[in-house]
Amino acid sequence: MDALNDIVERAFADFAASADPAALENAKAKYLGKAGALTALLKTLGTLPADERAATGARINAAKRELEDALALRRTALADAKLAAQLAADALDVSLPGRGRGIGGVHPLTLTLERIEMLFHSLGFDVADGPEIEDDFHNFTALNTPENHPARSMHDTFYVDGGMVLRTHTSPIQVRYMETHAPPIRIIAPGRVYRVDSDATHAPMFHQVEGLWIGEDVSFADLKSVFTEFLRLFFERDDVTLRFRPSFFPFTEPSAEIDMRFGDSGWLEIAGSGQVHPNVLRAVNIDPERWQGFAFGMGPDRLAMLRYGVDDLRLFYENDLRFLAQFAE
Ligand code: DAH
Repeated sequence: MDALNDIVERAFADFAASADPAALENAKAKYLGKAGALTALLKTLGTLPADERAATGARINAAKRELEDALALRRTALADAKLAAQLAADALDVSLPGRGRGIGGVHPLTLTLERIEMLFHSLGFDVADGPEIEDDFHNFTALNTPENHPARSMHDTFYVDGGMVLRTHTSPIQVRYMETHAPPIRIIAPGRVYRVDSDATHAPMFHQVEGLWIGEDVSFADLKSVFTEFLRLFFERDDVTLRFRPSFFPFTEPSAEIDMRFGDSGWLEIAGSGQVHPNVLRAVNIDPERWQGFAFGMGPDRLAMLRYGVDDLRLFYENDLRFLAQFAE
């Protein structure tokens, strides 16, 4: 069957020489089409002696499958080459417009924290920092909240490995700062805090800004003047008034909630505060007979909502750029 070998060899050569899909389909027709060479050979089977027919037929069919496989491979190769050529051409098309990167913006809560830092800085406060994973001592015990103190149940705490907690407030930063700095002390400490809580005005992660001013005669009057001045600067209006509402925190005595309002609108609670409890000063080896002062913990997220007119806290955390882009400065 030299004729068969001959056909197969010529077909392979033609397939390989086909430079595009159209040429390849023509080559296919030449061998496998109705009038193709292999098809013609199959038709001669009937003329063969009966005892040769089966073997010859099998050989021709095997050759046909070989050609079909070669054809499929070549089709794929041509398609791949075409794609590669397109990609290469695109990559080199220097006239295509660039993809560009949008210019990012700072998150409104970060803008708010930066603004708070800047304003307190102008009032003479340094900015302190502390870890978000806190130990029991700094988050509770040193803040006059011993193990079985009922006030611990005020926080629905996220506990992590080794008895550590995701800090439930920024107050432990007060403790860490007083452990490493002697009075007089005047700091604020912004940061993330965590509680098991979630609705329109509470998120499981939110922010607080702690404040601490320790000196020899720092009083509630100083707290009131500092906080009033801060809020007037923050909201850029003079009609902000404060109200101290008696409250309880283990780490302050006396304690008060700070409410604010614009003009004679309704009161809004924005911070807890008080005169630092002598036990807190003792826990960090500061003499409460000589030093005293105030502390506060405020909710900057609440201030951001008020400043930007946002009524659902969760919007700040959903990362919807259409929402966030409105506040870019
Ligand atoms: N740590 C308190 C809380 O998370 C807020 C607070 C109240 C902080 C009074 C203070 C303070 O420093 O004096 O609810």
